[in-house]
Amino acid sequence: MLTLQIKQFLMIKLSINNKKYEIDVASEMPILWVIRDVIGLTGTKYGCGKGVCGSCNVLLDGNLIRSCITPISLAEGKNIITIEGVENENKHLQQAWQDLNVPQCGYCQPGQLVSALALLNDNPIPTDDDINTAMSGNICRCGTYTRIKKAIHKAADLNNEV
Ligand code: FES
Ligand code: FES
Repeated sequence: MLTLQIKQFLMIKLSINNKKYEIDVASEMPILWVIRDVIGLTGTKYGCGKGVCGSCNVLLDGNLIRSCITPISLAEGKNIITIEGVENENKHLQQAWQDLNVPQCGYCQPGQLVSALALLNDNPIPTDDDINTAMSGNICRCGTYTRIKKAIHKAADLNNEV
């Protein structure tokens, strides 16, 4: 028997990196594919597609989410911060990443930086334990965890310099 799946399309108004958009997409489309394929911001990466690895992390009204498993309908009227918006949100984070040569292959790093942004927004001077807890949802197959921790401490120090 042939089963037809009817998709519900919505006109959704939202902001991405504080820029307003109106988009006509299937309501259940994951935010990741809207960001990458509809808007064209390709910094956010697809890893597992199951909410496990953290490579697709973005902020939705300040909350860290897995964009691969979050439908775009939940973003109506909200602001999404992607890796392309991190520099505007925290001017020292990417600089610290560069200064300490954090990335290896680089694939997981957009998600790592967005998680680090969420951490520093909530906790401007995190301890090692705070960092371990906050970053535990981000997997790096290259094992850059030690450099990530140092870079977060460095960004925190720079942010808190007067
Ligand atoms: S791609 Fe979303 S958590 Fe892995
Ligand atoms: S830098 Fe290669 S997966 Fe993290």
